[in-house]
Amino acid sequence: MGMKPSFLRLAMLCIYSLASIFPAKADQGMWLPLLLKQLNEERMQELGMKMSAEDIYSINEGSLKDAIVSFGGYCTGQVISEQGLLLTNHHCGYGVIQSHSSVENDLLTNGFWAPSLEDEIASPGLHATFIIRIEEVTEKVMAGITEDTPEIKLESLIETNIAKVSADAIEGTHYQAEIKPFFNGSEYYMFVTERFEDVRLVGAPPTFIGKYGGDTDNWEWPRHVGDFSLFRIYAAPDGKPAPYSEDNVPLKPRRSLNLSLAGIQPGDFTMVFGFPGRTQQYLTSDAVKLLVEETNPHRIGIRETKLEIMDQYMQASDRVRIAYASKYASTANYWKKWIGESMGLESYDAITRKKALEAEFMEWVNAEAGRKAKYGSVLDDIAAEVQKVQKGNVAYQYLREGLVRHDAIQYFQLLYALASIQDTGEREEYLVEAKRFLKNFDLATDKAVLSAMLDLYRENVPSTYHLSAFAKAGDPAESFYEGDWLSMEWLDEYAGNPRAHQKALYDLTALEMVAEIQEFYSTARGEVNGPQAKIDALTKIYIEGLREMNADRAFAPDANSTLRVAFGSVGGMEPRDGLVYRHYTTLDGVIAKEVPGVANTHEFFLDEKIKMLAESREYGRWADEEGYLPVNFLASNHTTGGNSGSPILDAEGNLIGLNFDRTWQSTMSDVMYNAEICRNIAVDVRYIGWVIEKYAGADRLIEEMNFVNEPMAAE
Ligand code: ARG
Ligand code: ASP
Repeated sequence: MGMKPSFLRLAMLCIYSLASIFPAKADQGMWLPLLLKQLNEERMQELGMKMSAEDIYSINEGSLKDAIVSFGGYCTGQVISEQGLLLTNHHCGYGVIQSHSSVENDLLTNGFWAPSLEDEIASPGLHATFIIRIEEVTEKVMAGITEDTPEIKLESLIETNIAKVSADAIEGTHYQAEIKPFFNGSEYYMFVTERFEDVRLVGAPPTFIGKYGGDTDNWEWPRHVGDFSLFRIYAAPDGKPAPYSEDNVPLKPRRSLNLSLAGIQPGDFTMVFGFPGRTQQYLTSDAVKLLVEETNPHRIGIRETKLEIMDQYMQASDRVRIAYASKYASTANYWKKWIGESMGLESYDAITRKKALEAEFMEWVNAEAGRKAKYGSVLDDIAAEVQKVQKGNVAYQYLREGLVRHDAIQYFQLLYALASIQDTGEREEYLVEAKRFLKNFDLATDKAVLSAMLDLYRENVPSTYHLSAFAKAGDPAESFYEGDWLSMEWLDEYAGNPRAHQKALYDLTALEMVAEIQEFYSTARGEVNGPQAKIDALTKIYIEGLREMNADRAFAPDANSTLRVAFGSVGGMEPRDGLVYRHYTTLDGVIAKEVPGVANTHEFFLDEKIKMLAESREYGRWADEEGYLPVNFLASNHTTGGNSGSPILDAEGNLIGLNFDRTWQSTMSDVMYNAEICRNIAVDVRYIGWVIEKYAGADRLIEEMNFVNEPMAAE
């Protein structure tokens, strides 16, 4: 097991709170912009917001929502100039920046600042998507469905309705439409979107700024990172989305954000506008127990092993370091997140709290016959299904996390798929994918990882799931790599005539293992997903009950990668007795953390230039009122993965920070949010401005941004 018990116990110190000293007024929840007026406007204004709900989301006027984009489908971005300049996190642009990097031209290490529009780098595959409007479509999606509709028909009826409603909504436009369930299917909302596919890289700080503190500081406070990068959205000359073309021009957005230099004070209203990916607020106590006691420890252990091996090989070679940079970062990210999540949930006694809520719920249910009939067994039924999930859960975690997602196994399947594709265009896409894969691949690293994964698998997974290779002598990973199928030459030959070469693929010893893994995976997945689907359906009923029980309270649906608003305030916290998190950090802290050395050999490298600039203390308009350069700050907005790159807006809707992370225990907010504990972390816009202007000298970018609330003493 990766997680050492002593470490766990040590980390699980109680979280105390000092609510009176740290104003952390916030409401749990990621709210639908469409419903703000009805549900949240009053509360937001009470917390200091000076805008109306209409300023945030309106379908008629340009509103703040018109400056927000889904960046690549996995992060959030915002438009910060009239010429389509897009701001997001460095870690959101990371894969793209990496794809433009090589040992000779290492944009990751050195940073990149396009001197002119012509130098901005096209980044195929990247897209930025605006939300045109949101509409509630529950009735339309449920049309023709009654209490008596048999369950087997339900899904296809809903699907048919969804297809029709979304097709109608975009007929005759260049928009897309997406309809998603909320509250596990109690409500449906449609998002009409406009997707731009010519998005170019404009600027990125060097890694030592954009990822300062690396994985050591990730999910931590105090933090000192300039986690931002800049892109630009390009459109056809008529302003409509178009694939990359030299004729495209910078987008004239419906709305762009102003950047405020006023600074932040504890208690100031903040809101986060973006695309949170997934939360599970309505898990029952048993499900939380399964997560904390079984699922998290196993997947943490798997990733810990992977990371140790990757790290060894990356340290030993520059080529491997660059090739695996992005993979390493994303593996490390959720490894650490799950540790923090379990830690937060345990020290906050989430299971006990959930149980208390469930007891309260049952009391309410049992008080009335009608409720008893509707909700009487729902919690017991969920508990029974959670038990069933447990049957295949461990095998499922190892198969998914350790094997199915293993690089060479994924590549094998890519080759396999390639052989059956008829369409030449589609085949070309797969080929590009395969080549990209090989570019970021190292055989020795991959083999060492697979070997370790198979060992872990054998130790932890029930023997009914054991691979036949385990019966043979030697390392089962060894035979997997026989033949030179993981080389560019092999791919070239294969690509020439995939169907003819399919036989060569069939002859490989790897085939047997891949096929067996696939088969086990689909069995284990079925064992988990079957009961999981029932849990989801039952949870819909449970949520309906909770909402009925608290009829005067607004409920927020779980995040599902749709546009949401969270609100709270600037503020520090006390993570444990005697330790205080101040609400912001400064450049002085960046300098203090430096570990002298060579770029890329460790996470706290600084170059001479930033040290010189820091020493001069001439921060100009970017300084705070005491002459410090602010770097990162904390606020109490309820955020999750996908909210990276989201704007943090002040009471008037000006940009004050760029969201990029949460403190470690805060990651429990995916399951249970608490305003005293949970903090999101942002880059202060003043640090972004300073890096662009003073460090990079990219004045042309500063000039196109609109700064407001200049401090009085500005130069
Ligand atoms: N923890 C943040 C989020 O989940 C940032 C991750 C990127 N930074 C890093 N050092 N890996 O995505
Ligand atoms: N860092 C996360 C992201 O990439 C945000 C979070 O989980 O707080 O979306």
